[in-house]
This record gives sequence, structure tokens and C-alpha cells, in this order.
Amino acid sequence: MRIRKNTYEKISHQIANYIHKAANDSTYENPFILGLATGSTPHQIYEELKSMDVDFTNTITFNLDEYVGLDEDHPQSYKYFMEKSLFKSQDFHSNNFPDSKLYPYYDSMIDNVGGIDIQILGIGTNGHIAFNEPGTPRDSKTRIVDLTENTIKDNSRFFESMDEVPKQAMTMGIQTIMKSKTIYLIAHGKHKKEILEKAIYGDITPEIPASFLQEHPNCEVFYSE
Ligand code: PGA
Repeated sequence: MRIRKNTYEKISHQIANYIHKAANDSTYENPFILGLATGSTPHQIYEELKSMDVDFTNTITFNLDEYVGLDEDHPQSYKYFMEKSLFKSQDFHSNNFPDSKLYPYYDSMIDNVGGIDIQILGIGTNGHIAFNEPGTPRDSKTRIVDLTENTIKDNSRFFESMDEVPKQAMTMGIQTIMKSKTIYLIAHGKHKKEILEKAIYGDITPEIPASFLQEHPNCEVFYSE
């Protein structure tokens, strides 16, 4: 595994191109299954996709996670983020979230459509992927988790105060993510460099959930300062 360095714009453009091709090659019988992330990292990928001529009508999406306790029209809910960033301007086959109704069935739902073809992933400053916080075992599935103080603090920049950040989330597990056929892990910003290097070159340990990606047969890692 190696870390590919480039500008944020070039990385976003490249990944948007991969998605563009897979979406346009898909058919009703053979849909494209796309795993999506929220947060600041994938923002530019969605901007690129909106400027391309992509046919998403045979694309089924599964988002990585969602906060517990926020209505879907709350501006910080991940459903709201995705609607605004991509879904409202494109016509998809379907868009799925591990919300309070669906999270118990989420892994089966993904398996039933043949698994995720491309999963986009960010990394937290504590090494989390999705909301799999340090200490998460390799065989974890989609479930409700408690967010760590570190994550609540990192995410408070999107809220008025730290008190408003939900303390729990529903998230795909490590096992769920590891079943994806291709994974693009993206780290954007100098503050992510140290944890990314530990995750990719250090020991594989539940204390750095992203380190499990070293065992994935087809994970590409991108870093921009
Ligand atoms: P960010 O979050 O893209 O907002 O930096 C990444 C993550 O916490 O997984």
C-alpha cells in the first residue's frame, strides 16, 4: 500500500472520474453500488460529479453513517448534507442511510445488491473510519456507537456549540467497509498526515481502525496537504 500525494482538486477530480465511469457503465440488471462519505473531505468530489455528465439512474448509494437524534431535515444530518451536496441535482436509482429504521438491516441490504463496488472513505484525526472509533474490532457490523470526545470536538465546527453535537451515531462497521470491492481512502490537510502514516505503515490495531485497511486487497490511499 502506498500513499499517493496530489492536490485536493486533482485527487477529487480523479476519484470523480472513477465514479463517473462506473456509473455510466452500469445497467438496470447490473447496477453500480457506491458507498458515500460526508464531512469536508468528499465535498469537492461531489462538486466535480455535478459538473460532469453522469448517469446515476442505475446507481444505488449507501452512506457510511448518520447521527442519532437529528431529524433528516436538520442541516447537520448526513441525509441533509447529501441531498444538498449531490442527490437533489442528480437522478439516482436509490439512496440509503443507516438511519434508525434501516441500520439493523443495512449489512444485509448491501449484501443483497451484491456488495459495494466503490467506497469513499475519509479518516478522523483519531484514526476512525466512518464512526468506527479507536477500539473497534475487525468484525464489527452496522450498529449504534458512542462518539469519542475527540470526534465530538472535531465535529463541533459544524455546530453552534459542542453541546449540540450528537453523542451517538449509526455507522457501517469495519467488516461492512472491508467487504467493499474497491476503497478510496482520502486524507486532506496537514493535520491528517501523522494519523494517515500510522494507519498505513504502522501496526494493524483496533486502536487505529483505519489500519485494518492494510488488509484490504484493493484500497487506494490519497493524501493532499
Ligand atoms: P472530515 O472528516 O472529512 O470532515 O475531515 C473525516 C472523518 O472524520 O472521517
